[in-house]
Amino acid sequence: MVIEPKVKGFICTTAHPVGCRENVRRQIEYIKKLGENHAPKKVLVIGASTGYGLASRIAAAFGGHADTLGVMFEKEASGKRTATPGFYNTKAFEEFARAEGLYARSINGDAFSKEIKEEVIHTIQKDFGTVDLVIYSLAAPRRTMPDGTVYHSVLKATKEPYRQKSLNLKDNTVSEAEIPAASEEEIEATVKVMGGEDWFDWIESFNNAKVLSEHAVTVAYSYIGPELTYPIYFNGTIGMAKKNLHEYAEKIRKTLNTSAYISVNKGLVTQASSAIPVVPLYFAILYKVMKEKGCHEGCIEQIGRLFHDKLFGTQVITDEQGMIRMDDYELREDIQTEIKTVWDKINSENVTTLSDIKGYWEDFYQMFGFGLEGVDYSADVEV
Ligand code: NAI
Repeated sequence: MVIEPKVKGFICTTAHPVGCRENVRRQIEYIKKLGENHAPKKVLVIGASTGYGLASRIAAAFGGHADTLGVMFEKEASGKRTATPGFYNTKAFEEFARAEGLYARSINGDAFSKEIKEEVIHTIQKDFGTVDLVIYSLAAPRRTMPDGTVYHSVLKATKEPYRQKSLNLKDNTVSEAEIPAASEEEIEATVKVMGGEDWFDWIESFNNAKVLSEHAVTVAYSYIGPELTYPIYFNGTIGMAKKNLHEYAEKIRKTLNTSAYISVNKGLVTQASSAIPVVPLYFAILYKVMKEKGCHEGCIEQIGRLFHDKLFGTQVITDEQGMIRMDDYELREDIQTEIKTVWDKINSENVTTLSDIKGYWEDFYQMFGFGLEGVDYSADVEV
């Protein structure tokens, strides 16, 4: 069938298999051009099908010649419904990797569950022996516990409701959004979903099963962002979860004796980040300012630089808190000063000139495989 984008708010309910494949191909091409990195050879990526996780899998495989095992939660096509983009991305990745003689296996299921952890351990034992690098790149809306309890993460402020300019994704207008303050329960639930407990559980179960190699490293991705977005991000419910994730890095190092890092990445349009109020408007301005200054990066450029320069160089490059800062360009003073100036002036009338709203939507559509040059969107495709 001919597949067209169907956008509903911050989500697109269709995905284009050929476009997704092209998206993966381009990322592979970028990594190859960047040159080899020293990523280890047996790599597991949890959350490997889109965004930062997919970029990590590509950087490990095509920059470091690594065999990769990926975990994701994606839907297959059924009837006239297309699969989710991560499903198509994964198929394409596997095809490209195997064509180069690389091992690429993917496990599609709930990473929070005991069953998937067991399946991953079994696969490592069978195919790898041990694993050298575990990337934790989950962005999930909910977590089901072994006893059936379900925690839902929320994107809210914490102490008090917060009013701020926000981009209306339906019609690209700018208006004030009121973001409510979360209850204690909602904060706790968000920490359960997006905090570090599950990351710890993974590494602990690997330790118990003795499937980590001697110098194994694990890295989880985080975001801090500028003061401008603190009320909704860093001091919001998601920020509480991220602080908890940071604490777990320490806990993994101390109690599990495993090298664990947090990489604080740049803010980028992904399926996860599009859902956060206020943030898309900040991103649209950030894109414009960073593109003008020639330092804009997407997921693959960020992870390419992480693997190449900061994680697998002669030593891991961190800040004084031990975190890897891939948000170094985003938080540069000149960039943030310019964003603040624009922020005060931006409104529905000038949003297209003062921000890179075009670039925002280009990235958004491309995540679902649309708007990629060279893809014939009028052609019939097999979903
Ligand atoms: P994304 O939505 O593109 O990717 C999420 C991944 O998690 C996908 O592979 C998805 O299949 C997988 N997933 C979700 N629920 C799952 C489950 N229950 N079981 C197994 N897999 C599951 O998100 P993105 O943006 O790449 O986020 C990844 C990490 O990077 C998150 O921790 C996020 O906070 C962090 N990050 C994101 C930034 C951004 O601006 N997008 C900035 C800095 C950090």
